[in-house]
Amino acid sequence: MEVKKVGVVGCGLMGGGIALISAQSGYQAVVSEANEELLNKGISAIKGILSRNVEKGRMSKEEEEATLSRLKGTTNMQDFSDCDLVIEAVTENMDLKKKIFATLDGVCPPHAILASNTSCLSVIDLAMVTKSPDKVAGTHFFSPVPVMKLLELVRTIVSSDETIETLKSFGESLGKTVIIAKDTPGFIVNLLLTPYLLDAVRALEAGVATKEDIDAGMELGCNYPMGPLRLADFVGVDVFYFVAEAMYEEFKDPKYAAPPLMRKMVAAGRLGRKTGEGFYSYK
Ligand code: 3HC
Repeated sequence: MEVKKVGVVGCGLMGGGIALISAQSGYQAVVSEANEELLNKGISAIKGILSRNVEKGRMSKEEEEATLSRLKGTTNMQDFSDCDLVIEAVTENMDLKKKIFATLDGVCPPHAILASNTSCLSVIDLAMVTKSPDKVAGTHFFSPVPVMKLLELVRTIVSSDETIETLKSFGESLGKTVIIAKDTPGFIVNLLLTPYLLDAVRALEAGVATKEDIDAGMELGCNYPMGPLRLADFVGVDVFYFVAEAMYEEFKDPKYAAPPLMRKMVAAGRLGRKTGEGFYSYK
């Protein structure tokens, strides 16, 4: 199946990034938000990334304009009615995602593939609220979406070969390297990344070292672009907390249990860069 028009539900950090690279790669793209205020915020962030690309000489003014002409923002899910592929990228809330999949199932054409950018939730549970579970899979992008080279596809036990092949070609057309994982909690990357990150928080809690030294250890000792605590702040302490909780719920293995410090940071709204305060201060 040829994808011409891509829909994205949610214009936050991830959804906005997915809509941007889709439009940039020549697709017609429509991105939705729950209200005008959130939509304007998301579209402004996309425009900011594009202007920076022009300023830095990575993109011409004409390419910027052409990208924006292919990108439409909406608050009306009916605008997905002619999409060949819709990617849901809202917060990690199973009930909310199920509602969105049920709505998309009623709105999108019968041939459309529906995908979720979930980082840990069960994709088959989303597929089963639709009439064509074989046309549902996970498309897990990484933050920041325009920069990170990976797309992790999640194949459920009923995803069809055609769905996976179409998503693989789509991902490659965005310039991503595509890997394929089973629909198991955390897939490949978060299965490995989450325990590492939680161990870093436990090390901080136990007083093994300062946050700066824990991060420097992994940045300079292992050449990671960001140490684990800086990365948690970058992606969102709440995001990793949620991923850990969801994985613990499934596996009941203490290595996935979020340490108390993380839970308290989430309760206090210390979510990292987005709230100005996390393991580090960004004020
Ligand atoms: N959006 C778009 N582009 C961005 C960006 C953002 N938020 N942040 C950085 N960039 C781009 C810019 O083009 C920037 O160049 P510019 O400053 O000239 O415009 C370029 O990246 C380099 O950025 P910086 O010079 O500011 O900094 P770095 O060289 O350190 O790179 C980084 C930034 C790419 C974010 C790098 O630090 C990195 O790779 N960090 C690790 C990211 C990572 O591990 N992501 C995966 C997280 S896990 C995940 O997403 C899964 C989920 O399920 C939890």
